[in-house]
Amino acid sequence: MAWLRDADTPSWFVSRYDDVRAVIGDPRLVRPSVSGWSFLPEEDRPDGPELITMMEMDGPRHTALRRALSGAFSARSVRRRLPRIRRSAEQLLDAFAAGGPPGDLVAGYTEPFPLRVVCESVGIPYEDRDSYLPLADAALGALLTLEEARRATPLLREYVRSLIVRKQRTPADDILSALTRRCDRGELDEESVLSFGLSMLVAGYRTTTMFLSDAVVALLTEPEQYARLRDDRGLLPGAVEEFLRYVPVMNGVVVLQATEDLELGGQTVRAGEAVFPALASANRDEAVFTEPEKLDLCRRPNPHIAFGRGPHNCIGAHLARAELSVGLEALLDRFPHLRLAEGHSPTWDDASPAKSPLTLPVSW
Ligand code: HEM
Repeated sequence: MAWLRDADTPSWFVSRYDDVRAVIGDPRLVRPSVSGWSFLPEEDRPDGPELITMMEMDGPRHTALRRALSGAFSARSVRRRLPRIRRSAEQLLDAFAAGGPPGDLVAGYTEPFPLRVVCESVGIPYEDRDSYLPLADAALGALLTLEEARRATPLLREYVRSLIVRKQRTPADDILSALTRRCDRGELDEESVLSFGLSMLVAGYRTTTMFLSDAVVALLTEPEQYARLRDDRGLLPGAVEEFLRYVPVMNGVVVLQATEDLELGGQTVRAGEAVFPALASANRDEAVFTEPEKLDLCRRPNPHIAFGRGPHNCIGAHLARAELSVGLEALLDRFPHLRLAEGHSPTWDDASPAKSPLTLPVSW
C-alpha cells in the first residue's frame, strides 16, 4: 500500500493481491458518488441528478436489487442463452469477413458483440446505440471530465427512464421488463431499476469489449498460442480465466472511500481518505502467481480477482465468461489463420488507465 503524495486528494494506492482482496470486500470502504467526494471543491460537485449505479448503492436497497437479479445472471440463465450468444457472434463475423481482409476487429467484432449480448439479455434496443453510447462513455469518464459527466448524466437517466416506460407498456422476455414488473408490484423502487439500467450501460459491455480485444491482441502477438487454442478447444475454459488474470484493464476502475479510521496493510487509513485498489496489479502479484507476466493458457491454480469480491462483486461474471469463451471460439472457428495485418498496427488510447486497443487491424 502506498500513500499518493502528490495527489489532489488524500489517497492510497493498493497493488498487492492480499491487500486488494481485503479492501474490495471491506464494508468500511464505500464507493462514493461524485458529490460524495468530500475533497472535491464545491464548484466541481454535480448540481443536478447523479449517476448512481449499483456500485454506489448500499444497504438494504442494494441487497434487494442484487437478490432480484440473482436468477437472471445465474450460471444456469447464462447457459440457456448460449445459442443466442453464439448466433450473435457468427452474424457479426460473417459481416466482418464480407468486408475484408484487412479489417478492424474492434469496430467489426469485439465492440459490437458484447453490446449486442447485453442489449438482448437486458432489453436495451441495440438500434438506439448512437443515442446512449456517447453518453455512457462520457459518464464513465466522470471523475476525469466532470463537465462532460454533468452534461451526460441527466440525458442518460432520461434515456433509461424512457426505456422503463416502454417496458411497462410493452413488456418482453428480458431482465429490464422483469425488474419493471417487480417495481409495479412494489418489490423494488423505481430508482433501483433506473440504477440497474445505468449500470448495464456503464459496466455491462465496455469491460468485456476491452478484455476480448486484449485477449485477441495477446494471442496474435504470440501466434503459436492462437494455433494452440484453435487446435485444442479443451484449453478454452482455462484460457478464459488466464485472460481475466492477465489483461491489464481493471486498474483505476474501483474507487473507495474510508467511512472510518482503519488499519490496512500495516497502515492507518483515515476516515474520508480515498483508496484505489489496482485489480490488474493484484492479478500479477508474484507472491501468488508464478511468472505473473507470462500468458500461460494452462495456468493452475488461477485465483485471480478480476471480478472483485464481496457484496459488490461483478454480477455479470457468468455472462462475461460466456462472452469471452463463445467470442473466442467463434473467432477461432471462422478465422483459423487470423493474424495481425501487415503494415497496420493496433492503435491505443495512451491517456486511458485501461489498456485496450482502439483499433485492431487483422488479416486472415
Ligand atoms: C470481463 C468482463 C468484466 C469484468 C472484468 C468485470 C469486473 C467487475 C468488477 C471488478 C466489479 C466490482 C467493482 C467494485 O468492487 O466496485 C464489477 C461490478 C459490476 N459488474 Fe462487472 N465486469 C465485467 C463484465 C460485466 C458484465 C458483462 C456485466 C453485466 C452485463 C457487468 C455488470 C457489473 C455490475 C452491475 C457491477 C456492479 C455490481 C454491484 O455493485 O453490486 N460486468 N465488475
